[in-house]
Amino acid sequence: MASSLANSLVITGGRRGLGAALAQELVSALAPARLVLTARSVDQTFRSQWPAATLVEADLGSAGGVERAALSIGEVVAAAPHRHGAVWDAILVHNSGSLSPLGEIGQGMVGAGAGSGPADLAKNVFDSVSASSQLNIASFAALTAAFVDSASRRPAGLPRSLVLNVSSLAAIQPFSSWGVYCAGKAFRERLMSVLAAEQAELDGGGRVVAFSYAPGPLDTDMQLELRSSERVSKGVRDAMAAAHREGTLVSPAASAGAIARQVAAGPSALAGLGDGLRADYFDLVPQR
Ligand SMILES: NC(=O)c1ccc[n+]([C@@H]2O[C@H](COP(=O)([O-])OP(=O)(O)OC[C@H]3O[C@@H](n4cnc5c(N)ncnc54)[C@H](OP(=O)(O)O)[C@@H]3O)[C@@H](O)[C@H]2O)c1
Repeated sequence: MASSLANSLVITGGRRGLGAALAQELVSALAPARLVLTARSVDQTFRSQWPAATLVEADLGSAGGVERAALSIGEVVAAAPHRHGAVWDAILVHNSGSLSPLGEIGQGMVGAGAGSGPADLAKNVFDSVSASSQLNIASFAALTAAFVDSASRRPAGLPRSLVLNVSSLAAIQPFSSWGVYCAGKAFRERLMSVLAAEQAELDGGGRVVAFSYAPGPLDTDMQLELRSSERVSKGVRDAMAAAHREGTLVSPAASAGAIARQVAAGPSALAGLGDGLRADYFDLVPQR
């Protein structure tokens, strides 16, 4: 039984990896009255796990997928009941993300066998960065805009709403061969800080809290890609392989549980974490 409540919760990429763990932990901590989970594929297994949720099949690298997800966000935020004692009105968790294109800046970004002339290289990089930006940047901005608009239309007197950006250490630290990923995460954190500044200018400090969470190095498919892709520079790949071998990767459940406990403690608990705009798993769960 949750000790805190939220009126509604939306999680992108809620079917697997960290997103699935966040769904479990946030639902258990906040018992949202309405729940939306997005995934590129919604099958019977996923449906049977979440019989009461709205499951939206949406590739967030496409305009159609973003529109479908935004429609659900608008509906669920507007229709969620006002629960007595809720600590949050609506919560949007931006979890979906991808690493591609990996590779050191230059030929490394296109891999062996691609055209080696400057025009071929530029065309290749232009196409791959454009595709990844649709998911990691454009859909993030688009769904945040839809959510802020819907949350701001809720009746006065409700608790605040939250945009929780799943970020990474890569947002603030460069890693060789992850240039586009690092830049995408930095973009997302800066958009969150602008949202926080805009909300702070509104009466009463605004309706929406913006926060970024770096979940630590997680034992998920994304890590598998990092330690197996030839495009990842050797030093980084070896470090990731060693973390896996030595068992120092963080489990998605542990990371999701750590942030869920903070979210369940409400807006002032989040404001007290890190610099008030971002926190890392290792800030929440200091290592011995
Ligand atoms: N793993 C790490 O070490 C680590 C560290 C720091 C931050 N993170 C961040 O944590 C988040 C989750 O990553 P993860 O580790 O759980 O990786 P993962 O297992 O590879 O999962 C990636 C997630 O993104 C979704 N996704 C990928 N492409 C998508 C698309 N085109 N449209 C919609 N959804 C898409 C996937 O949903 P589908 O079910 O549709 O495939 C899945 O839920 C990401 O934002 C990642 O950057 C991970």
